[in-house]
This record gives sequence, structure tokens and C-alpha cells, in this order.
Amino acid sequence: MLCPTNLLFTLVFISITPFSQVVHALALQSQHAHGGGCIPVERAALLSFHKGITSDGGDVLASWHGYNCCQWRGVSCNNRTGHVTKLHLRNAIPDPGISCRYYDVCGDANSLFGKISPSLLSLKHLEHMDLSMNCLLGPNSHIPHFLGSMKNLRYLNLSGMQFTGRVPSQLGNLSKLQHLDLGEGYLRTDRMHSTDITWLTKLPLLQYLRMSTINLSRVDDWPGTLNMIPSLRVINLAECSLDTASQSLPYLNLTKLEKLDLSWNNLGHSVASSWFWKLKSLKYLSLGRNQLFGKLPEALGNMTSLRVLDLSGNNLNKTENFENVLKNLCCLEILDLSANYMNGDIVLLLEGLPRCAWERMVELHFHTNHFIGTLPNIIGAFSSLSTLNLYSNNLVGPIPPGLMNLTRLTVLSLWGNQLDGYVPTENGDLTALTYLDLCCNNLIGSIPAELGNLKHLASLTLSGNKITGPIPPEVMHSTSLTSLDFSNNKPQWKCTH
Ligand SMILES: *[C@@H]1O[C@H](CO)[C@@H](O)[C@H](O)[C@H]1NC(C)=O
Ligand SMILES: *[C@@H]1O[C@H](CO)[C@@H](O)[C@H](O)[C@H]1NC(C)=O
Ligand SMILES: *[C@@H]1O[C@H](CO)[C@@H](O)[C@H](O)[C@H]1NC(C)=O
Ligand SMILES: *[C@@H]1O[C@H](CO)[C@@H](O)[C@H](O)[C@H]1NC(C)=O
Ligand SMILES: *[C@@H]1O[C@H](CO)[C@@H](O)[C@H](O)[C@H]1NC(C)=O
Ligand SMILES: *[C@@H]1O[C@H](CO)[C@@H](O)[C@H](O)[C@H]1NC(C)=O
Ligand SMILES: *[C@@H]1O[C@H](CO)[C@@H](O)[C@H](O)[C@H]1NC(C)=O
Ligand SMILES: *[C@@H]1O[C@H](CO)[C@@H](O)[C@H](O)[C@H]1NC(C)=O
Repeated sequence: MLCPTNLLFTLVFISITPFSQVVHALALQSQHAHGGGCIPVERAALLSFHKGITSDGGDVLASWHGYNCCQWRGVSCNNRTGHVTKLHLRNAIPDPGISCRYYDVCGDANSLFGKISPSLLSLKHLEHMDLSMNCLLGPNSHIPHFLGSMKNLRYLNLSGMQFTGRVPSQLGNLSKLQHLDLGEGYLRTDRMHSTDITWLTKLPLLQYLRMSTINLSRVDDWPGTLNMIPSLRVINLAECSLDTASQSLPYLNLTKLEKLDLSWNNLGHSVASSWFWKLKSLKYLSLGRNQLFGKLPEALGNMTSLRVLDLSGNNLNKTENFENVLKNLCCLEILDLSANYMNGDIVLLLEGLPRCAWERMVELHFHTNHFIGTLPNIIGAFSSLSTLNLYSNNLVGPIPPGLMNLTRLTVLSLWGNQLDGYVPTENGDLTALTYLDLCCNNLIGSIPAELGNLKHLASLTLSGNKITGPIPPEVMHSTSLTSLDFSNNKPQWKCTH
């Protein structure tokens, strides 16, 4: 089975511009540089938008003066026509990380505050508008309906903006739209909602749709509606209060869909009854936190493009068809089965993962389940592994030497099992390791001095074991370690994680 490389994601543009056009462009350019930049009506529209901004702690609009608006920060013009085509005022927040999904843009002094002025309607050639992560809620905190009249938009990003009220169906007038991002806006109790999303079917070019955290609980047959937009490549309806995905669709038009995120909904039905299992083009499927149960469907076995499969936080147990279903998923890189009711021997689980993907797998999340048995040496064959989470299971026996072969491992978390034996001293090949947590097992012996030589190791937790003896100077004086925990290493210590 062949896995396409990332090359396929790279688009190469070759543009051939006729000579006459180049001359024309150069002429216009110099005219703009000397004669006054942008088109006066559009400049006025931008200044009027600026008037609606009440606070700009990040000084984003500091450059918005002078004649040539095409040189203002966040503004781009077509270099042939001089028209404003792009308004990119995204508030680039520091990466919040996975632990902090929602960012309070209205509590961030660097956000733009105020309103989105209807003056923007004068930017008749605007194709790209990104106002994401700002607090531009206007008087009523609703998405302004007039955005639906910005007919040339191909890209609209209002993510993280904390709007409330109904999603305006007027957005269905943006018939050229390719990317629509309204997601991640929730930080309030009155979250944005929609009872009818059929206006989306008026967007025949739509490739990317994110409406995560918008309450869609009263939308009828949302899969049927999305199935009318065959151009879609990405659908993200995470945390939309959807209560079922078990609608049956006679025919699947979504042949281009690569990414489907339905995590954090209330599906609560058998996993196999979902509508999407025949989407063979999927590369990314996230069904985390949905109370799904039952057998994985045989059709999953045909999703041979899958790279990421997230089934975490459901009520799944490891059924007998498990290995058979996964066996042809040769592109799999990330598998998350954490926080389910999976049991059985860890050896059978690992051996059951598609052999054609062993060397490709980057992340395995099997923590918070009921796996038993001893971690086998074959774990060393998963040579690309960067994260291995097996914490909070019932594993016994020693840490296998094969694990020490994983030169790309950065995160290893085995806490909360009943592992015994020594902390391996032959760990010199774990050169990428930054995080090691072996807490709350039954490990014995002393702290290996070799751990102090892992150059990148930042966090080391050996607490809650039966380890004795001094802390070796190599570990004490390690320059990389920022967090060390050796507490509770007394015999008979009982873990309460
Ligand atoms: C016009 O802009 C495009 C990209 O927006 C750029 O590739 C091209 O070189 C520019 N042409 C001139 C004459 O500046
Ligand atoms: C919209 O902006 C956010 C950041 O503000 C970004 O994470 C997201 O990928 C953008 N959406 C699209 C479709 O580009
Ligand atoms: C935009 O959409 C609304 C409802 O979806 C419709 O009533 C209105 O006529 C449309 N406006 C334009 C300018 O097409
Ligand atoms: C979503 O809307 C439904 C119906 O209006 C409501 O009962 C439910 O509480 C809302 N869910 C959330 C998470 O706001
Ligand atoms: C999509 O599939 C349905 C059947 O589920 C069909 O009725 C509809 O015409 C198709 N729509 C498009 C846009 O292809
Ligand atoms: C998997 O795909 C093959 C070939 O397209 C097809 O014959 C088979 O029925 C599919 N299996 C399932 C369970 O959908
Ligand atoms: C598997 O899960 C189902 C439903 O969640 C449950 O009825 C069944 O008893 C479970 N089987 C095992 C072996 O745990
Ligand atoms: C680990 O590496 C050693 C030495 O390079 C090799 O002999 C052994 O077969 C490897 N083990 C696994 C499970 O890959």
C-alpha cells in the first residue's frame, strides 16, 4: 500500500504574465507610488472602519495614515488595478496550547475593540478578510448581516470573535467563498447558534468550513446539507451540540473531504451507525468526546488515506474485529484511543496495529484504559514514534529495552501502572526525549546517572516508586532539566491517581 508523501499537499504555481501586462503594472505601480496609492473611495472606507475601532492596544492601525492605503498594515491591493483585495487584521495571539482552547479576545488589550463598520462595503474588490481573534462585537454582539453583501469574498475568517445570536443566512450570498471560519467563538453562555444551515449550499466553491462551538442542536439533517457541497475538503463542527451523526445518506458527494472534526458533541450512538464511514478520501477524523460505543465498522478498513484517527473519550471497548479493521490503514501516523473502556493485552494491541504503518506512527495515545500485560520489545519497531502515552492502565513487568531504541521519542508517559524492575540505564539513544513520567509504578533500584546526559530532557518524574539512593550529580547538574520529581519513593507506596 502506498502512502502519498506531503508533496501532494504542496501546490506549485507557475504564472506566465504577458509582457504588455507587466509594463502596464509597472506604470500603475509608479503612478501609485508618486500619485497617491490607493483608490480614494476605498481609502475613505478604511478610515471610516478605523473610526469604529475604539481601542487598538497592539498599535495595529498605527500605520493607517498618509495617502497610500495599500501600504497600511494589513491592507493589500491588487498591483494592477490598485483596488484593496485583502484585509488581514488577525490578532496573532501567542499559541495557547492544547490546555487552553478558548482565548478571551475581549480580555486581551492587544485586540482591536469596537465594531465592524459597514463602510467596508465600499471595498468592492475585497477577496480576503481576516478579523479573527479581535473583539469587534459592535452594539449587539451579532455577526453583521451586511457581510453577506461583500460579494467578492473568497476567504472570511471571524474565528475566536465571541459573537452571539444567530449566524446570518445572508452569508449564503457570498457565492465565491472558499474558506469560511466562524469557529472557536465560545466563551459565553449565550453561544452563537443556527437552526438552519441550508444557506451553506449556496456556496458551491466552499472548501473549508469551521463552525466549531456554534450551537447547531436544532439543525435538521446537517449531514444531508453538507452533502450538497461536494467541494468541501475540511469540515470542523467540534462542540456544536450535535446529538446524532447516524443519519443515512444514500449517496456521498463529499469525495474531496480530507478532514472531519466532530469532537465534543453528544452523539451517544453506536460508532458504526455514523454517516461518514465511506468517505475514503479522509486523512483526518476526530470523534473524540462523543459517548460513542460498539464495534468499529468494517468500512473504516477502506479509509486507507487516514493519517489521524482520534477516538478518545468515548465508551469504546476493544472488540474482536479491531485488528482486522485497522490492518490496511498504512498511512496512520496518530492514533488516539485514550479514555475509553479498552481492555486486553497491550501486546495484542501493538501487534494488531497495521504493520505497514509501524515505522510511520508518530503518536500513540492509549492512556486511561484497562490494558493489561507487559510492554513488549517490539515497541522498538515503531521507529518514528514521538509521543507514547500509556499512563493509567494496568501494565505490569519491566520497561523493555526495545523502548530505548526510539531515537525520536520526545514524550514518554507510563505513570499509573504497575511496572516493576529498574529504570533503564541504557537510555543513551533517547536523545529527543523532553518529558519522562514514570510516576506511580513499582520501579526499584537507583536513579540512573545516565538520565542526566539526555541533553534535551526537561521534565523528569520518578515519584511514587520504590527507588532509593542519592540523586546522581549528572542529574542534579543537568542544564536541560527544569522539573524534577522524586517524591514519595518509599516502599509500599500506593498510587491514588
Ligand atoms: C503583483 O503581485 C503579485 C502577487 O500578489 C506578485 O507575484 C507580482 O510580482 C506583482 N507584480 C508586480 C509588477 O509587482
Ligand atoms: C482563521 O484564523 C485562525 C487564527 O486566528 C487560524 O487558526 C485559522 O486557521 C484561520 N482559518 C482559516 C480557514 O485559515
Ligand atoms: C442575501 O441573502 C438574503 C437571505 O439569505 C436575501 O434575502 C437577500 O436578498 C440577499 N441579498 C442579496 C444582495 O443578494
Ligand atoms: C444549544 O441549544 C439548545 C436548544 O436551544 C439548548 O437546549 C442547549 O442548552 C444549547 N447548548 C449549549 C451548550 O449551549
Ligand atoms: C448529493 O447527494 C444527494 C443524495 O444523497 C443527491 O440527492 C444530491 O443531488 C447530491 N448533491 C450534489 C450537489 O451533488
Ligand atoms: C471496501 O472497498 C471495497 C472496494 O471498493 C468494497 O468492495 C468493499 O465492499 C468495501 N468494504 C466495506 C466494508 O465498505
Ligand atoms: C463493550 O461495550 C458495550 C457497550 O458500551 C458493553 O455492553 C459490553 O459489555 C462491553 N464489552 C466488554 C467486554 O467490556
Ligand atoms: C534495538 O536496537 C538494538 C541495537 O541497535 C537492536 O539489536 C535491537 O534489535 C533493536 N530492538 C528493536 C525491538 O528494534
